[in-house]
Amino acid sequence: MDFSPLFKTAEEAAQLIHHDYYIGVSGFAGAGSPKAVPSALAEIAKEEHKQGRPFKVSLISGASTGYEVDGVLAEAEAISYRIPYQSSAQLRKEINKGSVSYQDMHLSSVSDDLRFGLLPVINVAIIEAAAISADGEITLTTSGGNTPLLCQKAESIIIELNEFHTPRLNEIHDIYEPEYEYDRRPIVIESVSSRIGANTLKVDPAKIVAIVKTNSSDGISAFKPNTDITDAIGANVVKFLEHEYQSGKMGASFRPLQSGVGNIANSVLSCISRSEVIPPVSMYTEVAQDAVIDLIKQGRCNFVSACSLTVSDQVLSKIYSDFDFYKEKILIRPQEISNNPGICRQLGIISINTAIEVDIFGNVNSSHFYGTHMMNGIGGSGDFARNAAISIFVCPSTTKNGAISAIVPMVAHTDHTEHDVKIIVTEYGVADLRGKSPRERAACIIENCAHPDYRAILKRYLELNQDDGHTPHTLEKAFSFHTAYKAKGDMRLADI
Ligand code: COA
Repeated sequence: MDFSPLFKTAEEAAQLIHHDYYIGVSGFAGAGSPKAVPSALAEIAKEEHKQGRPFKVSLISGASTGYEVDGVLAEAEAISYRIPYQSSAQLRKEINKGSVSYQDMHLSSVSDDLRFGLLPVINVAIIEAAAISADGEITLTTSGGNTPLLCQKAESIIIELNEFHTPRLNEIHDIYEPEYEYDRRPIVIESVSSRIGANTLKVDPAKIVAIVKTNSSDGISAFKPNTDITDAIGANVVKFLEHEYQSGKMGASFRPLQSGVGNIANSVLSCISRSEVIPPVSMYTEVAQDAVIDLIKQGRCNFVSACSLTVSDQVLSKIYSDFDFYKEKILIRPQEISNNPGICRQLGIISINTAIEVDIFGNVNSSHFYGTHMMNGIGGSGDFARNAAISIFVCPSTTKNGAISAIVPMVAHTDHTEHDVKIIVTEYGVADLRGKSPRERAACIIENCAHPDYRAILKRYLELNQDDGHTPHTLEKAFSFHTAYKAKGDMRLADI
């Protein structure tokens, strides 16, 4: 097919999108989302608002996008509904004001909701591509996300052809699409490096309504450097994993790792390179951040299966300049495969995700501050944690100069229940919750993970009702840490 009549400017392409449209965008964890058309759309929205006309769209993605999608559209007050994950400061503000309706979802489950018609019709998919062939075969850029299904479901497709990326990216994509029935054939991923799909995405060329040329990176900034605290958390994770491995609890080989998003996860993962006991690892994970690529370079990671290359520009240019080396060690999959709960269980992965707060009985909050304010969302952490052979949650024991304890009597929002959380790690140590009752878990978490400033007060809480109930909470005091922070700015002043 001759696509030349479809080449348009971003502004022309954005004109094809109207108020109330339901838009699907490529992208996952800031990687591979479109850049030019959403920005042009934000300008249209601002202009419409100036004229007193409404202009808002619904947005579905793989996961978080770059500033050029969530950031600009939120600033233009042009988003009415958003799923399934975001990490934009601008959009977070709108969500917490209640002006954007946000549904925070397990990332592996979005595609079936789309497939089986549980979500509205997608009017247009805007996707980023590194190349497109004459018969409509698309090479995706740095993420798999929900892009295959979004293209299948959308009434029309706008492609941003981003010349910044190498067209060789197809060599690291593995695009597998499950059938439309629930009695599906098994998804045969026997090891993290199993290839089961296609290198490129086939779309119906007749649906393509515009192609916009761009040339820009994902603009992912470098992660925060390790601190004494993240190094101490990392060292504790490594010590725990070394012990598991040496004691034979993992079976014959070191289990594949999954590592979460953000600065803390990146720092903790980098500490693996310091172990003389842990053999080179493999990873079945959601995001390959900078630390994963460093481990590959150091020969400490043999292979990574992920949904995105969420790496800084500097690290991406290293991958592109040594592509023959990295292409043998990286696969990017759609999120329903990278985060597939069945495959996680089958591979026996070790998941390592970051908690915002953890309660003394082992429930984890990954998404909300103070029980009310959304940070990012649960993301893929539930896909992995519930199904991992060993689910680890890490966090600094305190934040905000010690005024907030990450270990609290009761989490003010629950993402991962006590049933899904096996190991908690802070800079103070490791709480191994496996095989323990609620009372035993509480003692273990307070002793090993809480900051010393909070240990006595947490013990006092536990003793308030120690003979009453299987999980001895005192409901009228359960949120006293949170209420003390709100009222007095310091959880150490909790009334217990
Ligand atoms: N109350 C208030 N603020 C808190 C807090 C709490 N209980 N706990 C942490 N914070 C703040 C920190 O102070 C910090 O604020 P700052 O940016 O103003 O310094 C911020 O939250 C966290 O930033 P950072 O320390 O850099 O952490 P991070 O980049 O590693 O992100 C999460 C941590 C939990 C927000 C992030 O991992 C996340 O969104 N996880 C949920 C999704 C997930 O796990 N996905 C992975 C699946 S594969």
